[in-house]
Amino acid sequence: MNLLEALESKARMLPEKYRDMSAEELEALIRDIKAKMGKKLFIPGHHYQKDEVIQFADATGDSLKLAQLSAENRDAEHIVFCGVHFMAETADILTGDNQKVYLPDMRAGCSMADMADIYQTERAWESLQLLFGDTILPLTYVNSTAAIKSFVGENGGATVTSSNAEKMVQWAFTQKERLLFLPDQHLGRNTTYNIGIGLDEMAVYNPIENNLEFEGPLEKVKVILWKGHCSVHENFTVENILNVRKTNTNMKIIVHPECKHEVVRLSDMAGSTNYIIDAIEASPTGSEWAIGTEMNLVNRLIAQHPDKHIVSLNPHMCPCLTMNRIDLQHLAWSLDSIMEGQECNIINVESGTSENAKLALDRMLHQS
Ligand code: 13P
Ligand code: SF4
Repeated sequence: MNLLEALESKARMLPEKYRDMSAEELEALIRDIKAKMGKKLFIPGHHYQKDEVIQFADATGDSLKLAQLSAENRDAEHIVFCGVHFMAETADILTGDNQKVYLPDMRAGCSMADMADIYQTERAWESLQLLFGDTILPLTYVNSTAAIKSFVGENGGATVTSSNAEKMVQWAFTQKERLLFLPDQHLGRNTTYNIGIGLDEMAVYNPIENNLEFEGPLEKVKVILWKGHCSVHENFTVENILNVRKTNTNMKIIVHPECKHEVVRLSDMAGSTNYIIDAIEASPTGSEWAIGTEMNLVNRLIAQHPDKHIVSLNPHMCPCLTMNRIDLQHLAWSLDSIMEGQECNIINVESGTSENAKLALDRMLHQS
C-alpha cells in the first residue's frame, strides 16, 4: 500500500468520535439530521439490514424495489444507501447528476458480486463466442459490478433481480437462442429450470480456469451459468431440509432462489425476499415456517409474527457479514459528514460505464 492509498483508506475509516458515542446519542443525531434535511435526504434500506439501521430507512425493499425507488426519486440531493456496494452503484446509475449516492461503509461489498470481474467476463465472452458464435445474450443478476452491467448493456442484455428473473429469462430467449447468466449459478439454474430448460442443457463456466463444464454435444447448451454463488444462501443444505421434515411435518419450508438447486427442489416454496415476506404475512395464525434466507430478515419476521412459529432452516445461520457492516455508527457518520459539508464514501460510477449499465437496468425496469 502506498502513502496515498494509506491516507485514502484512513479517510474511509470510521472516526473515533462515533465509536465513543452511545446508541442513544447516535440515534438522536440521526433523527436530528433527518428532521433538518427533510426531503433532500433519502435513506433506502434493504431487508437484510439490521433493525438499528432499518428503523431510520425512508423506504425498505428488495433489490428490485430499491432500484425502482431510486429511479423514481428526483427530490433527494443525498441518497444514503443502506445496503451493499452494488445496490448503491445501481442507485447512482439510475439517479440524476444532481443527486449524490453514499454507502455508509465502503467495506459493505457482496461476496457473490466479487466472483465475477470485468476482465474475466471479457475473457469468457471471447471464449464463448468462439464456441457458440453470435448466439448468446448476457444477463446479469443485479448483484454484480457496474462494469459487468455495462458490458451486458453493451451486448444487448439486461439485469435481473430474484423477483423478476423468470420474466427476464423468458425475454432473453426471445432475443437469442442461448444465454450467459452471471454471476449466480444457483439463481440461473433455478430460474431456467422453472421455465422448462433441462439440467442437461445447462453448462457451467468456470472463470478461474476459463473453461466450460459440460458433458455432451455443445449444440445442446441453452444456458451458460457463471460459477458464482452467495456465501450466505449456500449454507442451506439438503440435510437441513431432511431435519425439518423429520422433526416437524407441519412446517412449511420456504427458501430464496440463491440456494442450491437441490435445496430449492426439496422446499415447499422458493422466491425473492419480497416473495418470502408476502408469503409469511399472508399465512394464517399458528402456521409454521422454516425460512432459508438471510438471518436479519428471518429474525425480523420472527419478531413481527409472534402468532406464527418461524425458524431459520439452518439453525446455525449468521447474518450476511457485508450487509451487517452498515450500522448506527456508520450511518451517523455518513449523515453528519453531509451536514458538515465533508461528504465521504460517495459512490460515483464513471459516465461511460454508467451509460451502458443504465441500458441493461432500463431493459429490466421496462419489463418489470
Ligand atoms: P433480493 O433483494 O433480490 O431478494 O436479493 C437478495 C440478496 O441477496 C441481496 O443481496
Ligand atoms: Fe451478497 Fe449473498 Fe450478502 Fe446478498 S446475501 S449481499 S448475495 S453475500
